[in-house]
Amino acid sequence: MGSEERSQPWWKSAVVYQIYPRSFGDSNGDGVGDLEGIRRRLDHMAWLGVDAIWLSPFYRSPMKDFGYDVSDYCDVDPLFGGLSDFDRLLAEAHARGLRVLVDWVPNHTSDRHPWFVESRSSRASHRRDWYHWRDGRPERPPNNWRAAFGDSPAWTWDEATAQWYLHLFLPEQPDLDWGNPEVVAAMHATLRFWLERGVDGFRIDVVNCLGKHPALPDLPAERARIPACALVDEPGTHALIRDIRRVLEEYPGERVLLGEVAIPWTERVASYYGEGDELHLAFNFPPLYAPWDAAAWRERVADAAAHCDPRGAWPTWVLSNHDNRRHRTRYGSEARARAAALLLLTLRGTPVLYAGEELGLEDTVIPDGRRVDPGGRDGCRAPIPWEAAEPHGWGGAEPWLPWPPEPARRSVEAQRADAGSILHLYRRLLATRRGSPALTQGDLELLPAREGVLAYRRRCGRDARTMLVNTSDESREVPLTAGLRVEVASDGGGEGRRFGGTLAPAQALILA
Ligand code: NOJ
Repeated sequence: MGSEERSQPWWKSAVVYQIYPRSFGDSNGDGVGDLEGIRRRLDHMAWLGVDAIWLSPFYRSPMKDFGYDVSDYCDVDPLFGGLSDFDRLLAEAHARGLRVLVDWVPNHTSDRHPWFVESRSSRASHRRDWYHWRDGRPERPPNNWRAAFGDSPAWTWDEATAQWYLHLFLPEQPDLDWGNPEVVAAMHATLRFWLERGVDGFRIDVVNCLGKHPALPDLPAERARIPACALVDEPGTHALIRDIRRVLEEYPGERVLLGEVAIPWTERVASYYGEGDELHLAFNFPPLYAPWDAAAWRERVADAAAHCDPRGAWPTWVLSNHDNRRHRTRYGSEARARAAALLLLTLRGTPVLYAGEELGLEDTVIPDGRRVDPGGRDGCRAPIPWEAAEPHGWGGAEPWLPWPPEPARRSVEAQRADAGSILHLYRRLLATRRGSPALTQGDLELLPAREGVLAYRRRCGRDARTMLVNTSDESREVPLTAGLRVEVASDGGGEGRRFGGTLAPAQALILA
């Protein structure tokens, strides 16, 4: 990859901020966040300095999977407001220079979607073949695929029509058959609906699952316990993605496809960029699953480069989202979460933040009786505390999930008033990144370093930065960088001064 500064699409230098609408801001006091609640907080994202927001689903839904079970792709669920609320949110985000990506869930609908209701009504339905129906006996599913939640088969027997239907997630999320051109056309129409409203792109849910082998063959026995959604990787999916990309390209502006590829191998993830004609960006989860350990990260960083660079694919980096324990919880301390933020925002590629990580939020421990998610993911979906005093900027009914730990101290209000907070660290990192061509578009060279330290240099033309990340909880000597100036320190220590050659425990630095 060349290292000269040049103009490039916005999404390469951007930082994306994921919002889980139920948990972000509640404007009507029903205890569940909504679109107007997001609009009222847009100044937070603008102040922080992110470039784009990605909204998890807000479409009409029976909420069995909290919106990832869509019953109408072209409307807003009343819980979140209406289309006019969306239009206003989009316009006001754009007025602040924030792009907006919406979540598109093409692999499956809700079982309450009129298409599935019709499909299920009879074997002779004109929409029967919009989904995957198979003959068989009620005691033996058609293949050995497992669904993502609950360690159960990816099949449900439909008593009324005496056939099985496929669902890689809940039984209430039947898989569409993308081998059917009518399905493709209907789903393309849903893309156009949002493109015409002016969205800047889509995060695509489990995009690797769209194509299915027509015979739906068994998985090899040694993989049969892994949820099939992490393994489905059919060659035919790539043509489907190219068609989706062509729909996007009918519209002006640099709209973007950010696909969730749920396959846990970076080499396979990279294939979903195609020849520059499939996804613009693909989530790559192996780093998210990695321990907080310099050697493990060195390998993940090298892997992303090895598989992305040769095909001109631009990597993405993510540490937290609505499906996994937050990295503040996984890594075990705020010091480490701060160092991880510096890493995330200085690697080569597009980082995606998850709302609340800038506050250093930990997962909520959900008491018995308040668990609601069938996938056990409630802890990372706790409401965002905006104000220090209860009810933390929410008001009205108690929020749908309990607060994260220390909501007053962790609130946006308290942390904005404290220049040493993790919130201010994120803001400094974002500003530093924005001002440095090396950090937004430069190449990346891994440097030799002692055990427990990840060291790398980024360069673009004459602009260069060196990053040192101490994943250990002891101090570490890094002599070769002595003399450079500390631009950002994850603990704030020594910023603006010359680096003396010793990293504090769990400290990360940007050196200029
Ligand atoms: C991935 C989404 O991120 C997750 O939240 C959802 O449950 C599944 N796909 C099914 O849509």
